Amino acid sequence: MDTHANTDTSTHANAKSGATGRRSLLGGAAALGLASAAFGTGAHAVGTQSLSHTKAGRFQGKSVLITGATSGIGRAAAKAFAREGAHVGFCGRRAELGRQVEREIRDAGGEATYIQADVRVNAQVRSFVDRVASRYGGVDVAFNNAGIGSGKLPHEMTVEEWDDVQATNARGVFLAIKYEIPHMLKAQRGVIICTSSSAVEQARPNGAAYTASKRAVQGIVKSAALAYGPKGIRLNALLPGTTDTAFVRPPGIPDADWATYKQAWGPLNVDGLERMADAEEIARAVLGLASDDFPYMTGASVTVDGGSTAGRKMIQPSGT
Ligand SMILES: NC(=O)c1ccc[n+]([C@@H]2O[C@H](COP(=O)([O-])OP(=O)(O)OC[C@H]3O[C@@H](n4cnc5c(N)ncnc54)[C@H](OP(=O)(O)O)[C@@H]3O)[C@@H](O)[C@H]2O)c1
Repeated sequence: MDTHANTDTSTHANAKSGATGRRSLLGGAAALGLASAAFGTGAHAVGTQSLSHTKAGRFQGKSVLITGATSGIGRAAAKAFAREGAHVGFCGRRAELGRQVEREIRDAGGEATYIQADVRVNAQVRSFVDRVASRYGGVDVAFNNAGIGSGKLPHEMTVEEWDDVQATNARGVFLAIKYEIPHMLKAQRGVIICTSSSAVEQARPNGAAYTASKRAVQGIVKSAALAYGPKGIRLNALLPGTTDTAFVRPPGIPDADWATYKQAWGPLNVDGLERMADAEEIARAVLGLASDDFPYMTGASVTVDGGSTAGRKMIQPSGT
């Protein structure tokens, strides 16, 4: 199963660079054996800020449920919520990683429970949600984040591969919401954030399955926001740009090579901040959306992509 294909980045790489920059970048990438991967920059002025300035205790005693927190953005969010006092119930398929994240949060003085669950499986999602609700007293916040990539052209993709992307990214979000909502209706309040992607705005030749699935997430969120707004439940979609996680990082690449690669990738692909996001930065946006700071925001698609979908720096023939 293709769980970590390079989807959110690989096709940006060719789109924005000048010919010279592109040639030299791809040459360097090939030397590193990274021709299909994604890049960022080392200019992490924002990315390396610690989370220490976030308001302590915004989620004190709240029950926070996360799908897909064994790695990447979900893991960063689980840790950030726990640091702010939340009781975090999270899932993912890789039990060893799940237990490790749980242990790290508890060792740091937080509260978390890992429950193995596959978001494609109806009974597992229901059981996961109900167990989190029963352990932590309901579901105050849900972050429906589990997702996989796909990087194949339509004529090369099997029907099974297409279905797997939709089952994970779109149906998985539907299932999570289906079982979270009854707990929130009981409490007459709740916040749900679902991970879509900036890829919904930036189509790529090999992104049909992924973009379709992430647009579906937006559709589910908008519709559910209308349905449950009157009941005190807010839903928003988060659209991260390329983020430095296993989702885009080629397996086994040494840190130094990855840093070099990212440094070249950023200015060519992210007009604006000119670098990849860190998972912690995306997590910070999740906590913001889940907090009481945005009580009037629902049904929105919130882009956090360093400016990459804002537009492109263009050199006009007239020089204007
Ligand atoms: N990184 C980016 O550039 C980027 C950009 C935009 C959007 N996103 C989205 O952000 C989300 C998180 O991705 P990431 O970047 O943090 O990558 P990641 O490190 O690969 O994390 C993906 C998470 O989803 C979980 N997952 C995948 N399939 C699952 C399944 N069937 N059941 C349960 N959990 C499942 C994985 O856990 P297991 O493998 O243990 O099941 C893992 O915890 C995804 O929805 C992705 O589409 C990523």
